[in-house]
Amino acid sequence: MISRRRFLQTSTALACTPGLGACTPQNAAPANQNVSLDIQAAQFDLTGHGITTDMVSLSGDAPPPVLRIRQGAEFTAHITNRLKDYTSMHWHGLRLPNEMDGVPYLTQIPMGENDAYTYRFTPQDAGTYWYHPHCMTMDQMARGLTGMLIVEEEEAPGFDDEITLNLRDFRLGRDNQFKDIYTARGAARAGTFGNVLTANWQRQPVYDAAAGGLVRLRILASDTSRIYRLALPEGKGIIIAMDGHPVVEPVPWPTKEAPLILSPGQRVDIALKMPTDEGQEISLLTMSGNRERPLARLRAIGRDIKHAIGDLRALPANPLSIPRLENAEVHEFVFGWSPSGDLPNNGFCGTMGYTFWSINRTPWPGDASGTGPLAVLKHGKSHILRLRNESPNEHPIHLHGLTFLPIRSNKRAVANNWTDTALLLREETLDIALVADNLGDWAFHCHVIEHQKTGLAGYIRVA
Ligand code: C2O
Ligand code: CU
Ligand code: CU
Repeated sequence: MISRRRFLQTSTALACTPGLGACTPQNAAPANQNVSLDIQAAQFDLTGHGITTDMVSLSGDAPPPVLRIRQGAEFTAHITNRLKDYTSMHWHGLRLPNEMDGVPYLTQIPMGENDAYTYRFTPQDAGTYWYHPHCMTMDQMARGLTGMLIVEEEEAPGFDDEITLNLRDFRLGRDNQFKDIYTARGAARAGTFGNVLTANWQRQPVYDAAAGGLVRLRILASDTSRIYRLALPEGKGIIIAMDGHPVVEPVPWPTKEAPLILSPGQRVDIALKMPTDEGQEISLLTMSGNRERPLARLRAIGRDIKHAIGDLRALPANPLSIPRLENAEVHEFVFGWSPSGDLPNNGFCGTMGYTFWSINRTPWPGDASGTGPLAVLKHGKSHILRLRNESPNEHPIHLHGLTFLPIRSNKRAVANNWTDTALLLREETLDIALVADNLGDWAFHCHVIEHQKTGLAGYIRVA
């Protein structure tokens, strides 16, 4: 463990603004390739007006930590379940061996109370990823269990500061306690929304960074429903990565008029140039229509250190195989309503008692066992997945274990940037391409968790 004092000496100041709620200092821990964590009940003051109990985290009184690991070095996470409910842990966006993917019944037996599972993998790709449970998913994620996982580049790109923001809502009553975490009405539409918007479990936290310095801002949308429409109106800089991977096609700077869409499961890395005058601030907003909702602020401190975006080393590309479209096999998927509303009792991972959604007309019940694979992809070959949304809702479609490129849409120009989660617009047909270079059964689902849990899920086999 690096001491607080040593951190203050080795990092430019990243202090916390007093007086504006409880402000948590940013994560300063060095990479740690070996962690042992207990999933457990927690409580926390999310609103500044009282403790919320019945939360779930990896300690009793704090948000799930930012885990930092090194690219190309083996990582071991020994996870123990201290809850009465079953659980499992999933490492979202990482290309890892199938048995480390944390999907109950598909890749592992869910963990009962006091059971443990050792997840071990070597990340090939650097970037911003995250972790969350994949059993009792709705309940445990809504209560807090979502955290960032950072894979550091072999060579540091040269930022002065790093700020991580885990964006998510909580759905609380006036007494600061959880109220119904999901609703049939929400599950059948765009999801059930929280009413307390947070970054790192705080409302509108303020983080300090050196005036005139360069900040790597890593943002994760870990909410179960909310599609963020982000804007950084006072900010200057560039988007350097989306969903973990350095951008290939430039992504425009997020403004109020043209916000950056970050749907559940997605991440963005931003190289941000701090204002040069002490005390100047940059706000991060999410837009609902014309209405802006503040999420967090960054404040310049100290004397102008006069760094320029051009001083940064470009992020090296991750070792991904580029799909060959000429001879790719096409597989079709249709996302729509569920043909039937009935639902079998399917094990230990929680169901909502109804299905509304389906992939290829087959609803997947709850978190547990469903039917066979939606498609079988030949190992080592290029494939095009044609995703057709016949519903009037948007679905962030996520594929485990593989990274893909959106290539074309019937509704818009798509940026060919690598991802694991692509937002499918209403009535859109989106083609995505990939090389099936990772063997196994890979979960494939909507990341609006109520959609996932009421049918919009399945898996793809690479064999
Ligand atoms: Cu982020 Cu299957 O999940
Ligand atoms: Cu995932
Ligand atoms: Cu959906």
